[in-house]
Amino acid sequence: MDRIRIRGGRPLAGEIQIGGAKNAALPLMVAGMLTEDRVVLSNVPKLADVDTMSLLLAQHGVAVEPVGNDGRTLSIGGAITNTEAPYDIVRKMRASFLVLGPLLARVGEARVSLPGGCGIGTRPIDLHLKGLEQMGAVFELDEGYINGRAPGRLRGATIVFPFVSVGATENLLIAASLADGQTVLANAAREPEITDLATCLVAMGGRITGIGTDKLVVEGVERLHGTEHTIIPDRIETGSYACAAAISGGSVFLRDARLEHLGATVRTLREAGVEILEQPGGLMVKRLNGLHGTDAMTEPYPGFPTDMQAQFMALMSVAEGASMVTETIFENRFMHVQELNRMGARINVHGASAIVRGVPSLKGAPVMATDLRASLSLILAGLGAKGETMVNRVYHLDRGYEAVERKLAACGADIERIGG
Ligand code: EPZ
Repeated sequence: MDRIRIRGGRPLAGEIQIGGAKNAALPLMVAGMLTEDRVVLSNVPKLADVDTMSLLLAQHGVAVEPVGNDGRTLSIGGAITNTEAPYDIVRKMRASFLVLGPLLARVGEARVSLPGGCGIGTRPIDLHLKGLEQMGAVFELDEGYINGRAPGRLRGATIVFPFVSVGATENLLIAASLADGQTVLANAAREPEITDLATCLVAMGGRITGIGTDKLVVEGVERLHGTEHTIIPDRIETGSYACAAAISGGSVFLRDARLEHLGATVRTLREAGVEILEQPGGLMVKRLNGLHGTDAMTEPYPGFPTDMQAQFMALMSVAEGASMVTETIFENRFMHVQELNRMGARINVHGASAIVRGVPSLKGAPVMATDLRASLSLILAGLGAKGETMVNRVYHLDRGYEAVERKLAACGADIERIGG
Protein backbone atom coordinates (compact mmCIF):
# COMPACT_ATOMS: atom_id res chain seq x y z
CA MET A 1 0.00 0.00 0.00
CA ASP A 2 1.57 3.31 -1.08
CA ARG A 3 2.71 5.87 1.42
CA ILE A 4 3.89 9.45 0.95
CA ARG A 5 6.89 10.81 2.85
CA ILE A 6 7.31 14.56 3.34
CA ARG A 7 10.16 16.44 4.96
CA GLY A 8 8.72 19.82 5.79
CA GLY A 9 10.05 23.34 6.04
CA ARG A 10 10.65 24.21 2.39
CA PRO A 11 8.73 27.19 0.97
CA LEU A 12 7.10 26.18 -2.33
CA ALA A 13 8.03 28.15 -5.44
CA GLY A 14 6.97 27.55 -9.03
CA GLU A 15 3.89 26.59 -11.02
CA ILE A 16 1.22 23.92 -10.58
CA GLN A 17 -1.11 22.87 -13.38
CA ILE A 18 -4.71 22.62 -12.16
CA GLY A 19 -6.51 19.66 -13.77
CA GLY A 20 -10.10 19.12 -14.81
CA ALA A 21 -12.62 19.00 -11.98
CA LYS A 22 -13.22 15.47 -10.64
CA ASN A 23 -16.73 16.38 -9.49
CA ALA A 24 -17.60 17.71 -12.94
CA ALA A 25 -15.95 14.86 -14.89
CA LEU A 26 -17.96 12.15 -13.12
CA PRO A 27 -21.49 13.50 -13.83
CA LEU A 28 -20.40 14.56 -17.33
CA MET A 29 -19.32 11.00 -18.07
CA VAL A 30 -22.73 9.80 -16.89
CA ALA A 31 -24.40 12.35 -19.19
CA GLY A 32 -22.67 10.48 -22.03
CA MET A 33 -25.15 7.64 -21.36
CA LEU A 34 -28.01 9.82 -22.59
CA THR A 35 -27.24 9.37 -26.29
CA GLU A 36 -25.77 6.74 -28.59
CA ASP A 37 -23.87 9.57 -30.29
CA ARG A 38 -20.33 10.32 -29.09
CA VAL A 39 -19.89 12.80 -26.26
CA VAL A 40 -16.23 13.88 -26.30
CA LEU A 41 -14.91 15.25 -23.00
CA SER A 42 -11.54 17.02 -22.82
CA ASN A 43 -9.47 18.17 -19.85
CA VAL A 44 -10.44 14.92 -18.11
CA PRO A 45 -8.32 14.43 -14.96
CA LYS A 46 -6.28 11.20 -14.64
CA LEU A 47 -7.88 9.85 -11.47
CA ALA A 48 -8.87 6.48 -10.04
CA ASP A 49 -12.49 7.66 -9.84
CA VAL A 50 -12.52 8.44 -13.57
CA ASP A 51 -11.20 4.94 -14.29
CA THR A 52 -13.92 3.47 -12.06
CA MET A 53 -16.60 5.46 -13.87
CA SER A 54 -15.23 4.28 -17.24
CA LEU A 55 -15.51 0.70 -15.99
CA LEU A 56 -19.08 1.28 -14.83
CA LEU A 57 -20.22 2.81 -18.12
CA ALA A 58 -18.52 0.07 -20.11
CA GLN A 59 -20.40 -2.66 -18.25
CA HIS A 60 -23.63 -0.80 -19.09
CA GLY A 61 -22.58 -1.11 -22.77
CA VAL A 62 -21.52 2.54 -23.08
CA ALA A 63 -18.00 2.63 -24.48
CA VAL A 64 -15.44 5.06 -23.05
CA GLU A 65 -12.54 5.44 -25.48
CA PRO A 66 -9.44 7.61 -25.29
CA VAL A 67 -9.08 10.17 -28.08
CA GLY A 68 -5.60 11.23 -29.12
CA ASN A 69 -2.71 10.38 -26.80
CA ASP A 70 -2.79 12.92 -23.99
CA GLY A 71 -4.98 10.64 -21.88
CA ARG A 72 -7.20 13.60 -21.06
CA THR A 73 -9.80 13.28 -23.82
CA LEU A 74 -12.52 10.61 -23.66
CA SER A 75 -15.18 9.73 -26.22
CA ILE A 76 -18.31 8.28 -24.61
CA GLY A 77 -21.35 6.73 -26.26
CA GLY A 78 -23.21 3.61 -27.23
CA ALA A 79 -26.39 1.66 -26.63
CA ILE A 80 -27.21 0.71 -23.04
CA THR A 81 -27.18 -3.08 -22.99
CA ASN A 82 -27.12 -3.73 -19.24
CA THR A 83 -29.11 -1.86 -16.60
CA GLU A 84 -27.39 -3.20 -13.48
CA ALA A 85 -24.80 -1.16 -11.57
CA PRO A 86 -22.99 -3.77 -9.42
CA TYR A 87 -22.21 -3.43 -5.73
CA ASP A 88 -18.46 -3.95 -6.17
CA ILE A 89 -18.26 -0.81 -8.31
CA VAL A 90 -20.85 1.37 -6.57
CA ARG A 91 -19.34 0.74 -3.10
CA LYS A 92 -15.98 2.04 -4.37
CA MET A 93 -17.39 5.25 -5.77
CA ARG A 94 -20.67 6.77 -4.63
CA ALA A 95 -20.97 8.87 -7.79
CA SER A 96 -21.88 5.58 -9.52
CA PHE A 97 -25.39 6.15 -8.21
CA LEU A 98 -25.75 8.91 -10.79
CA VAL A 99 -26.42 6.26 -13.45
CA LEU A 100 -29.89 5.72 -11.98
CA GLY A 101 -31.36 8.78 -13.72
CA PRO A 102 -30.11 8.05 -17.25
CA LEU A 103 -30.94 4.34 -17.03
CA LEU A 104 -34.56 5.17 -16.16
CA ALA A 105 -34.70 7.99 -18.70
CA ARG A 106 -33.34 5.96 -21.59
CA VAL A 107 -34.32 2.37 -20.86
CA GLY A 108 -37.07 2.66 -18.25
CA GLU A 109 -35.45 0.25 -15.85
CA ALA A 110 -32.47 0.09 -13.49
CA ARG A 111 -30.95 -2.14 -10.83
CA VAL A 112 -28.41 -0.03 -8.94
CA SER A 113 -26.64 -1.05 -5.77
CA LEU A 114 -27.26 1.23 -2.82
CA PRO A 115 -23.95 3.03 -2.28
CA GLY A 116 -23.90 2.52 1.46
CA GLY A 117 -22.15 4.94 3.78
CA CYS A 118 -18.58 6.11 3.71
CA GLY A 119 -16.08 7.55 6.14
CA ILE A 120 -17.54 11.05 6.21
CA GLY A 121 -21.16 10.13 6.75
CA THR A 122 -24.17 7.91 6.07
CA ARG A 123 -24.82 9.79 2.81
CA PRO A 124 -28.37 8.66 2.08
CA ILE A 125 -29.83 8.93 -1.43
CA ASP A 126 -33.46 9.54 -0.45
CA LEU A 127 -33.66 12.85 -2.35
CA HIS A 128 -32.56 11.09 -5.55
CA LEU A 129 -35.31 8.48 -5.16
CA LYS A 130 -38.07 10.88 -4.06
CA GLY A 131 -37.41 13.17 -7.03
CA LEU A 132 -37.43 10.31 -9.53
CA GLU A 133 -40.61 8.94 -7.96
CA GLN A 134 -42.23 12.33 -8.57
CA MET A 135 -41.22 11.83 -12.21
CA GLY A 136 -43.04 8.51 -12.32
CA ALA A 137 -40.36 6.02 -11.35
CA VAL A 138 -41.24 3.12 -9.05
CA PHE A 139 -38.58 1.63 -6.73
CA GLU A 140 -38.19 -1.39 -4.52
CA LEU A 141 -35.27 -2.43 -2.33
CA ASP A 142 -33.96 -5.90 -3.12
CA GLU A 143 -30.88 -7.36 -1.40
CA GLY A 144 -29.08 -4.03 -1.17
CA TYR A 145 -30.05 -3.01 -4.69
CA ILE A 146 -32.58 -0.44 -5.80
CA ASN A 147 -34.77 -1.89 -8.55
CA GLY A 148 -36.33 0.96 -10.51
CA ARG A 149 -38.91 1.04 -13.27
CA ALA A 150 -40.31 3.95 -15.24
CA PRO A 151 -43.26 2.61 -17.27
CA GLY A 152 -43.43 4.62 -20.49
CA ARG A 153 -41.28 7.74 -20.14
CA LEU A 154 -40.32 9.71 -17.07
CA ARG A 155 -42.58 12.71 -16.83
CA GLY A 156 -41.62 16.24 -15.86
CA ALA A 157 -42.38 17.34 -12.28
CA THR A 158 -41.79 20.23 -9.92
CA ILE A 159 -39.26 19.09 -7.32
CA VAL A 160 -38.41 21.22 -4.30
CA PHE A 161 -35.31 19.97 -2.47
CA PRO A 162 -35.66 20.32 1.34
CA PHE A 163 -31.92 21.02 1.43
CA VAL A 164 -29.19 21.37 -1.18
CA SER A 165 -27.85 18.12 -2.62
CA VAL A 166 -25.25 18.15 -5.40
CA GLY A 167 -25.81 14.52 -6.40
CA ALA A 168 -29.60 14.65 -6.30
CA THR A 169 -29.55 17.83 -8.41
CA GLU A 170 -27.30 16.08 -10.95
CA ASN A 171 -29.27 12.82 -11.06
CA LEU A 172 -32.58 14.63 -11.59
CA LEU A 173 -31.18 17.19 -14.03
CA ILE A 174 -29.85 14.36 -16.19
CA ALA A 175 -33.13 12.41 -15.98
CA ALA A 176 -35.29 15.50 -16.64
CA SER A 177 -33.42 16.25 -19.87
CA LEU A 178 -35.16 13.28 -21.53
CA ALA A 179 -38.42 13.32 -19.56
CA ASP A 180 -41.81 14.14 -21.07
CA GLY A 181 -42.67 17.74 -20.21
CA GLN A 182 -41.26 20.37 -17.89
CA THR A 183 -39.27 19.72 -14.73
CA VAL A 184 -38.52 22.42 -12.17
CA LEU A 185 -35.69 21.78 -9.69
CA ALA A 186 -36.10 24.27 -6.85
CA ASN A 187 -33.41 24.76 -4.16
CA ALA A 188 -31.03 23.10 -6.61
CA ALA A 189 -27.29 23.00 -5.98
CA ARG A 190 -25.36 25.81 -7.70
CA GLU A 191 -21.83 24.38 -7.64
CA PRO A 192 -19.78 25.22 -10.77
CA GLU A 193 -19.80 21.49 -11.56
CA ILE A 194 -23.62 21.62 -11.87
CA THR A 195 -23.32 24.57 -14.23
CA ASP A 196 -20.74 22.64 -16.25
CA LEU A 197 -23.06 19.64 -16.48
CA ALA A 198 -26.05 21.79 -17.50
CA THR A 199 -23.95 23.58 -20.12
CA CYS A 200 -22.95 20.25 -21.64
CA LEU A 201 -26.54 18.96 -21.60
CA VAL A 202 -27.66 22.08 -23.48
CA ALA A 203 -24.88 21.50 -26.02
CA MET A 204 -26.32 17.99 -26.44
CA GLY A 205 -29.71 19.48 -27.32
CA GLY A 206 -31.12 19.72 -23.81
CA ARG A 207 -33.38 22.65 -22.94
CA ILE A 208 -32.38 24.07 -19.53
CA THR A 209 -32.84 27.58 -18.14
CA GLY A 210 -31.81 29.06 -14.81
CA ILE A 211 -28.30 27.64 -15.15
CA GLY A 212 -26.15 28.88 -12.27
CA THR A 213 -29.16 29.62 -10.08
CA ASP A 214 -30.96 27.52 -7.48
CA LYS A 215 -33.95 27.06 -9.79
CA LEU A 216 -33.36 24.95 -12.89
CA VAL A 217 -36.18 24.60 -15.43
CA VAL A 218 -35.86 21.72 -17.88
CA GLU A 219 -38.03 21.10 -20.95
CA GLY A 220 -37.58 17.40 -21.71
CA VAL A 221 -36.72 16.40 -25.29
CA GLU A 222 -37.18 13.14 -27.20
CA ARG A 223 -33.49 12.57 -27.72
CA LEU A 224 -30.11 14.17 -27.18
CA HIS A 225 -27.14 14.18 -29.55
CA GLY A 226 -23.39 14.13 -29.15
CA THR A 227 -21.15 17.11 -28.44
CA GLU A 228 -17.64 18.10 -27.43
CA HIS A 229 -17.10 19.63 -24.00
CA THR A 230 -14.11 20.86 -22.05
CA ILE A 231 -14.30 20.19 -18.32
CA ILE A 232 -13.83 23.17 -15.97
CA PRO A 233 -10.70 23.29 -13.79
CA ASP A 234 -10.91 21.76 -10.32
CA ARG A 235 -11.72 24.45 -7.74
CA ILE A 236 -10.97 22.11 -4.83
CA GLU A 237 -7.57 21.20 -6.24
CA THR A 238 -7.03 24.95 -6.65
CA GLY A 239 -7.94 25.66 -3.02
CA SER A 240 -5.85 22.74 -1.83
CA TYR A 241 -2.67 23.94 -3.54
CA ALA A 242 -3.37 27.52 -2.44
CA CYS A 243 -3.22 26.16 1.11
CA ALA A 244 0.02 24.34 0.22
CA ALA A 245 1.63 27.60 -0.92
CA ALA A 246 0.41 29.35 2.21
CA ILE A 247 1.39 26.72 4.79
CA SER A 248 4.87 26.41 3.29
CA GLY A 249 5.38 30.18 3.27
CA GLY A 250 5.95 30.06 -0.48
CA SER A 251 4.55 31.47 -3.68
CA VAL A 252 2.94 29.34 -6.41
CA PHE A 253 1.24 30.08 -9.75
CA LEU A 254 -1.85 27.89 -10.19
CA ARG A 255 -2.23 27.53 -13.96
CA ASP A 256 -5.82 27.46 -15.31
CA ALA A 257 -7.27 28.18 -11.84
CA ARG A 258 -10.42 30.32 -11.99
CA LEU A 259 -11.08 32.87 -9.24
CA GLU A 260 -14.80 33.00 -10.00
CA HIS A 261 -15.22 29.32 -9.12
CA LEU A 262 -13.72 29.61 -5.66
CA GLY A 263 -16.69 31.25 -3.92
CA ALA A 264 -16.12 31.94 -0.23
CA THR A 265 -12.76 30.13 -0.31
CA VAL A 266 -11.12 33.31 -1.64
CA ARG A 267 -12.49 35.58 1.07
CA THR A 268 -11.68 33.13 3.83
CA LEU A 269 -8.10 32.48 2.67
CA ARG A 270 -7.48 36.22 2.19
CA GLU A 271 -8.77 36.89 5.71
CA ALA A 272 -6.32 34.26 6.94
CA GLY A 273 -3.41 36.14 5.35
CA VAL A 274 -3.11 34.42 1.97
CA GLU A 275 -2.62 36.62 -1.08
CA ILE A 276 -4.54 35.41 -4.14
CA LEU A 277 -3.98 37.44 -7.30
CA GLU A 278 -5.56 36.91 -10.71
CA GLN A 279 -2.97 36.85 -13.46
CA PRO A 280 -3.22 35.87 -17.13
CA GLY A 281 -3.76 32.11 -17.24
CA GLY A 282 -4.32 31.49 -13.56
CA LEU A 283 -3.85 32.61 -9.96
CA MET A 284 -0.70 33.63 -8.08
CA VAL A 285 -0.94 32.55 -4.45
CA LYS A 286 1.45 33.40 -1.64
CA ARG A 287 1.53 34.02 2.05
CA LEU A 288 1.85 37.71 2.87
CA ASN A 289 3.24 37.65 6.39
CA GLY A 290 1.87 35.51 9.22
CA LEU A 291 -1.32 33.48 9.06
CA HIS A 292 -4.23 34.68 11.18
CA GLY A 293 -6.79 32.46 12.85
CA THR A 294 -10.00 32.73 10.79
CA ASP A 295 -13.41 31.08 11.21
CA ALA A 296 -15.01 29.00 8.46
CA MET A 297 -18.40 27.32 8.17
CA THR A 298 -19.03 24.89 5.33
CA GLU A 299 -22.08 25.62 3.17
CA PRO A 300 -23.36 24.78 -0.30
CA TYR A 301 -21.83 26.86 -3.09
CA PRO A 302 -21.00 29.75 -3.13
CA GLY A 303 -20.32 29.22 0.59
CA PHE A 304 -17.11 27.73 1.95
CA PRO A 305 -16.86 24.21 0.46
CA THR A 306 -16.97 21.18 2.74
CA ASP A 307 -14.32 19.69 0.42
CA MET A 308 -11.94 22.43 1.58
CA GLN A 309 -12.61 22.04 5.31
CA ALA A 310 -9.83 19.57 6.17
CA GLN A 311 -7.23 21.49 4.14
CA PHE A 312 -8.19 24.80 5.76
CA MET A 313 -7.99 23.24 9.21
CA ALA A 314 -4.41 22.12 8.54
CA LEU A 315 -3.56 25.69 7.51
CA MET A 316 -5.20 27.19 10.60
CA SER A 317 -3.35 24.77 12.87
CA VAL A 318 -0.22 26.91 12.38
CA ALA A 319 -1.97 30.30 12.25
CA GLU A 320 -1.64 32.94 14.93
CA GLY A 321 -4.70 32.84 17.16
CA ALA A 322 -7.73 30.61 17.15
CA SER A 323 -10.18 29.52 14.43
CA MET A 324 -13.58 27.90 14.62
CA VAL A 325 -14.27 25.48 11.79
CA THR A 326 -17.88 24.31 11.51
CA GLU A 327 -18.93 21.42 9.27
CA THR A 328 -22.60 21.71 8.33
CA ILE A 329 -22.76 19.33 5.35
CA PHE A 330 -21.48 15.96 6.60
CA GLU A 331 -21.84 14.43 10.05
CA ASN A 332 -18.41 12.86 10.37
CA ARG A 333 -15.88 14.93 8.51
CA PHE A 334 -13.38 15.59 11.30
CA MET A 335 -11.39 12.36 11.04
CA HIS A 336 -8.25 14.35 10.16
CA VAL A 337 -8.36 16.12 13.55
CA GLN A 338 -6.78 13.29 15.56
CA GLU A 339 -4.06 12.87 12.95
CA LEU A 340 -3.29 16.59 12.93
CA ASN A 341 -3.18 16.56 16.74
CA ARG A 342 -0.60 13.77 16.57
CA MET A 343 1.56 16.30 14.70
CA GLY A 344 1.21 18.82 17.51
CA ALA A 345 -1.90 20.67 16.39
CA ARG A 346 -4.26 21.84 19.14
CA ILE A 347 -7.76 21.10 17.86
CA ASN A 348 -10.81 20.34 19.99
CA VAL A 349 -14.03 19.11 18.42
CA HIS A 350 -17.34 20.16 19.94
CA GLY A 351 -20.16 18.59 17.89
CA ALA A 352 -20.14 20.11 14.42
CA SER A 353 -17.47 22.66 15.32
CA ALA A 354 -13.75 22.38 15.91
CA ILE A 355 -11.72 24.95 17.79
CA VAL A 356 -8.23 25.25 16.31
CA ARG A 357 -5.64 26.99 18.49
CA GLY A 358 -2.69 27.85 16.25
CA VAL A 359 0.79 26.64 17.22
CA PRO A 360 4.13 27.99 15.93
CA SER A 361 4.90 24.78 14.06
CA LEU A 362 3.77 21.18 13.68
CA LYS A 363 6.10 18.22 14.09
CA GLY A 364 6.35 15.44 11.51
CA ALA A 365 4.84 12.06 12.45
CA PRO A 366 3.46 8.88 10.87
CA VAL A 367 -0.25 9.58 10.15
CA MET A 368 -3.17 7.75 8.59
CA ALA A 369 -5.25 9.07 5.70
CA THR A 370 -8.95 8.33 6.20
CA ASP A 371 -10.63 9.96 3.20
CA LEU A 372 -9.78 11.95 0.11
CA ARG A 373 -9.61 15.46 1.48
CA ALA A 374 -8.16 14.39 4.85
CA SER A 375 -5.27 12.84 2.89
CA LEU A 376 -4.43 16.18 1.32
CA SER A 377 -4.81 17.91 4.67
CA LEU A 378 -2.12 15.64 6.16
CA ILE A 379 0.21 16.34 3.24
CA LEU A 380 -0.26 20.07 3.82
CA ALA A 381 0.54 19.59 7.50
CA GLY A 382 3.68 17.68 6.51
CA LEU A 383 4.79 20.51 4.21
CA GLY A 384 4.63 22.98 7.08
CA ALA A 385 5.94 20.66 9.80
CA LYS A 386 9.43 20.28 11.18
CA GLY A 387 10.84 16.85 10.42
CA GLU A 388 9.43 13.90 8.53
CA THR A 389 5.76 12.99 8.01
CA MET A 390 4.68 9.65 6.59
CA VAL A 391 1.12 9.60 5.25
CA ASN A 392 -0.24 6.05 5.07
CA ARG A 393 -3.13 4.70 3.00
CA VAL A 394 -2.79 7.22 0.18
CA TYR A 395 -5.11 5.23 -2.11
CA HIS A 396 -7.74 7.69 -0.88
CA LEU A 397 -5.62 10.49 -2.36
CA ASP A 398 -5.33 8.94 -5.80
CA ARG A 399 -9.11 8.94 -6.19
CA GLY A 400 -9.25 12.70 -6.42
CA TYR A 401 -5.79 14.24 -6.85
CA GLU A 402 -3.56 13.64 -9.85
CA ALA A 403 0.18 13.29 -9.22
CA VAL A 404 0.23 15.29 -5.98
CA GLU A 405 3.80 14.39 -5.09
CA ARG A 406 5.06 15.26 -8.59
CA LYS A 407 3.29 18.60 -8.62
CA LEU A 408 4.60 19.56 -5.17
CA ALA A 409 8.12 18.22 -5.77
CA ALA A 410 8.30 20.37 -8.93
CA CYS A 411 7.80 23.37 -6.63
CA GLY A 412 10.63 22.34 -4.34
CA ALA A 413 8.84 20.19 -1.76
CA ASP A 414 10.82 17.30 -0.29
CA ILE A 415 8.11 14.72 -0.96
CA GLU A 416 8.13 11.22 -2.40
CA ARG A 417 5.78 8.25 -2.84
CA ILE A 418 6.96 4.99 -1.30
CA GLY A 419 5.37 1.94 -2.89
CA GLY A 420 4.38 -1.35 -1.26
C1 EPZ B 1 -20.89 15.75 -3.79
O1 EPZ B 1 -21.27 14.64 -3.00
C2 EPZ B 1 -19.39 15.66 -3.97
N1 EPZ B 1 -19.06 14.43 -4.69
C3 EPZ B 1 -18.70 15.67 -2.62
O2 EPZ B 1 -17.29 15.66 -2.84
C4 EPZ B 1 -19.08 16.96 -1.90
O3 EPZ B 1 -18.50 16.95 -0.61
C5 EPZ B 1 -20.60 17.08 -1.79
O4 EPZ B 1 -21.19 16.98 -3.10
C6 EPZ B 1 -21.02 18.40 -1.17
O5 EPZ B 1 -20.52 19.46 -1.94
C7 EPZ B 1 -19.17 14.42 -6.04
O6 EPZ B 1 -19.55 15.40 -6.66
C8 EPZ B 1 -18.77 13.15 -6.73
P1 EPZ B 1 -24.70 16.00 -1.44
P2 EPZ B 1 -22.86 14.29 -2.82
O7 EPZ B 1 -25.74 15.17 -2.08
O8 EPZ B 1 -23.56 14.61 -4.09
C9 EPZ B 1 -27.14 14.62 2.37
C10 EPZ B 1 -15.08 14.96 -2.58
O9 EPZ B 1 -14.30 15.00 -1.62
N2 EPZ B 1 -28.01 13.91 1.42
O10 EPZ B 1 -24.58 17.45 -1.81
O11 EPZ B 1 -22.96 12.92 -2.29
C11 EPZ B 1 -25.71 14.05 2.41
O12 EPZ B 1 -25.64 12.96 3.30
C12 EPZ B 1 -16.52 14.54 -2.35
O13 EPZ B 1 -14.78 15.24 -3.77
C13 EPZ B 1 -29.17 13.30 1.88
O14 EPZ B 1 -29.47 13.32 3.08
O15 EPZ B 1 -23.25 15.34 -1.70
C14 EPZ B 1 -24.92 15.24 2.89
O16 EPZ B 1 -25.03 15.32 4.29
C15 EPZ B 1 -16.81 14.18 -0.91
N3 EPZ B 1 -29.98 12.68 1.00
C16 EPZ B 1 -25.64 16.43 2.25
O17 EPZ B 1 -26.95 15.96 1.92
C17 EPZ B 1 -29.71 12.64 -0.34
O18 EPZ B 1 -30.51 12.07 -1.12
C18 EPZ B 1 -24.99 16.94 0.98
O19 EPZ B 1 -24.81 15.83 0.14
C19 EPZ B 1 -28.52 13.26 -0.80
C20 EPZ B 1 -27.69 13.90 0.10
